[in-house]
Parts: sequence; C-alpha cells; structure tokens
Amino acid sequence: GECDIGFIGLGVMGSNLTLNLADHGYRIACFDLDPSKVDAIIAQDANERGDREARVVGCNSFTELLKNLKSPHMIILSVPAGEPVDHVCNHLIDAGIEADDIVVDTGNSLWTDSVEREARFKGKFLFFSTAVSGGEVGARFGPSLMPSGDRYAWTRLEPVLKAIAAKVDAKTGKPIESFTPGKPVTEGEPCATYIGPQGAGHYVKMVHNGIEYADMQLICETYHIMRDALDMTPAEIAAVFRRWNEGKLNSYLMEISAEVLEQLDPETQQPLVDVILDKAGQKGTGLWTAVSALQLGSPAQTITSAVFARSISALKDERLLASKKLQGPAPLNLESSQKLAMIEQLEQALYCSKICAYAQGFQLMATAAKEHGWELEFGEIAKIWRAGCIIRAVFLQSIAQAYEQDEHLDNLLMAPYFAEQITEFQSDWRSAIAQATLAGIPCPGMMSALSYYDAYRSAVLPANLLQGQRDYFGAHTYQRTDKPAGKKFHIAWSDPQRPQIAIKR
Ligand code: 6PG
Repeated sequence: GECDIGFIGLGVMGSNLTLNLADHGYRIACFDLDPSKVDAIIAQDANERGDREARVVGCNSFTELLKNLKSPHMIILSVPAGEPVDHVCNHLIDAGIEADDIVVDTGNSLWTDSVEREARFKGKFLFFSTAVSGGEVGARFGPSLMPSGDRYAWTRLEPVLKAIAAKVDAKTGKPIESFTPGKPVTEGEPCATYIGPQGAGHYVKMVHNGIEYADMQLICETYHIMRDALDMTPAEIAAVFRRWNEGKLNSYLMEISAEVLEQLDPETQQPLVDVILDKAGQKGTGLWTAVSALQLGSPAQTITSAVFARSISALKDERLLASKKLQGPAPLNLESSQKLAMIEQLEQALYCSKICAYAQGFQLMATAAKEHGWELEFGEIAKIWRAGCIIRAVFLQSIAQAYEQDEHLDNLLMAPYFAEQITEFQSDWRSAIAQATLAGIPCPGMMSALSYYDAYRSAVLPANLLQGQRDYFGAHTYQRTDKPAGKKFHIAWSDPQRPQIAIKR
C-alpha cells in the first residue's frame, strides 16, 4: 500500500485528527463501520486541499485498510472507549494484522483497560495508546497528547504525534495557534511527550479531566456567587471574567465561560445561560479520578467535590421540592462598594482554589506513579498541558517552572512561588468563602480547596481524637507522639479503674 497511516473511527474527533494528519503531509487510509462517514471525510479532505492534493483514501473493510498501508502498519483508532476498542482490535487480527504493526488507541479509555489490552494483544500486534485532549478544534488544529506504551512503538510514532500536537512558544508558554486548514503550525514545542509504560498516559489524561472538572466547578461557583449574592447579570459576569482572563487566571476555560455567558438564545433573545437546564452530565473520567484518589488515599477533595456537585445538580426534582421547604439565610444586602470588594476577593478565591485543585491532581499522579512504578516527569506533563488541551492556561507555565526548580517537589503548595501567592491572597480567599456561606450559596469546590490547604499546612490534625475513638470501640490501637513510630498501644477503655480526668458532671 501507499498510505502512511490507517485511521479507524471517523466521528468528530476521528475525522478532525485525520484532517490534522493530512495537513502534516501524511496519506491516510480511512475506515468506519458507517460508510457515509468515509465518504464525508474524503469529501472534506478534497474540499480543503483540492482533488489533486487529496491525501485521504477511503476503505470498505479492515482488510482493505491493511492493504492500503505501507508495512509495517501504523493504525490509529478513534472509537468510543470500552468494548468498541476490543471489537476493532479483534477485527484487525482477523484481517491479518502482524506482530510488528502498531495500533494506537486515542479514546478516553480507562487506563487499566489499556494495560490489559497491551498484554492480551502481545505477539499479535503492538498495542499503543495516546490520550487526546482538546475537543474537536484541538483534534483538528493541534491537541495535547499523552502517549504511553511500548518504547519501540513510540520511536516510530513520535514524529507523527509531535507533528499533529499543539505547539507552544517555549519562552512565554503561550500557544502558537493557526486555525487555517492546510496551514498547520510547524514551530514551537509540541504538546506531546512520552508519559511512560502502557496505562500511564491514560492515567495522566484521567487526572487532567479530574482537574478539568474541578476548574470548571470553581468557575461555576464564582458565577453562582456573582449571580445570586451580588445580583449580577450574565453580561456583567462575562465582563469580569474577560478582565480576569487578561491576568493570572488566563485560561481557555475562563475564556469560554465568558463566551457562554455572552451568548443570546436565538429563540428568546435572552441570555442563553438562563435557559440552559442546571443538570450536569458526565461521561466518567472525573469519577474515575475520584475513585482512584480514594483508593490510593491521595487527598483530592476539590476534584471529588466537583464530581459530587454534578451529582447534586442532577437531582433537579428533589432540589425543587427542597427549595420550597428548607430555609436559607437572609440576603446579604451588600452596598455597591462591598460588592466591588467581593468581586476582587472572588478573583483571589478562584485563583487560590485553582492552585489547590492542581496540587491535588499532581499529588495524585505522584502517588499513582509510586504505586505503579511509573517515572512521571511532572514538569513535562505541565508543559504539554500549556496548549491544545481543555485546561490550557498560562498558569501551567508556572507549574512547569516549579517542577523545573525542584523535580522532587512533594506538593505544588510547597513550591516557593505558589506558597507566596497563597500567603498574599489567602485573606481574600477566606473572606469570599465566608461571605458566600453567609449568603447560603454552596461553594463545595472552593471550600474543599481551602480545607485542603489548611489541613496540609497543619502540623497537628484532630486525628489523635479519632484514633482514640477507634481504639475505644474497636481496640484498633494508636501510636504515641512520644514513642517510636509504628509501635502500637491500646488502653482498657472499659476498666472502671482506668485513670481519668476528674470532671464534675
Ligand atoms: C478533553 C476533554 C474531553 C471530554 C471529556 C468531558 O480533554 O478534551 O476532557 O475528554 O470533553 O470527556 O467529559 P464529561 O462529559 O465527563 O464532562
């Protein structure tokens, strides 16, 4: 065959990745179970490039796809996570794929599935995976890629994946973007780096999504406080978000939040956000992150809170009933100068909470890396998130720098830069949360972030009493602050003769 790459799965992500590959000069053999999607991608490619330059070849079967490819074959999958990935792999085996051929899964796969697949397909072909972030535009003009798996497969894939990845200006950390078909960005640092053995890349992408959930939730809480405690309109909130987006909160999520708030409903000419039903959907990656954090005992309460915030939003009917029965506090009735002050505090609250959410995500990756023997390079991970992906932000340049200064950093909060930032802004952070609480507005993300910060900086937590409780009812034992670590103690709590502080009752 003549084609460089085979592509299976021509949904939104798949067809955009295909066109991105074509922009970089690769010839692609495409296949989808739905032949109309194959026709559509051929038409799109011809339309963008002109018939003579067309780089996409349509195929009617897995066998035809293999026939159209140069050997050894390189095939990229963009099919829904789960069963469909195995289904396609099995079809490729039936069609005669060989041991030296590479199959790359780009879906939002559960990382343990990827590990299992690599083992299962060993000897039949090289199962590799790369997680992809950036939605449809990212896929088309440069996503952030988190590849992992067989090292040799990576050496063959590296030029391809680095070519199609988003690019960053190394100095400023800002994305270099082009959204013109046929004119891809070819300079700058690619947002693709080898993450580690199979599973590691999808794990890192999973945590990216957990952070994404937290980041989105924090922005939504800020909006909620502005809407309900400060009586601001969507347009007013959008204007503040746009101003913040010029500074340290500059990010893709901040930008699109302003865009969403400015959108009018074509039908009613009212702000669209006011007619969007407040019931959040989720496809599972945030949940997986929360589950993994719980299993590994790595505190990630802001990520977990973001998942639960979606859950409680989904209980719309119950909330409607409760809203008629359960009382909240009286309104704050702030003066306009107080409102302005609170808007300023909210910027710092959002920023400090965001630092904690990222700290939790990076801490989780570090814990998982230890558990699974991965050597994750956190500076590199922060770097490939500076462009292309959903959480892209100038902020990630600061995270990359923190890890460059100290690659063994235990927690982002301990990086001098972030420690100073929180010291400077914490009183605003605390005030904003206190006010929101007094106004009866839930802010689980911000509150959990602040609790995370306060717990992490506490030399002594109340778990001494907790250990006493556990020993009391279950003889679970406790350690002592004045005895060697690991030594276990137990007291006969039910002995009436035990020494006790004399208290008059
Ligand atoms: C990305 C996104 C992408 C997708 C998530 C959102 O990085 O490009 O994270 O993977 O939008 O799956 O998932 P929810 O539907 O769970 O919000």
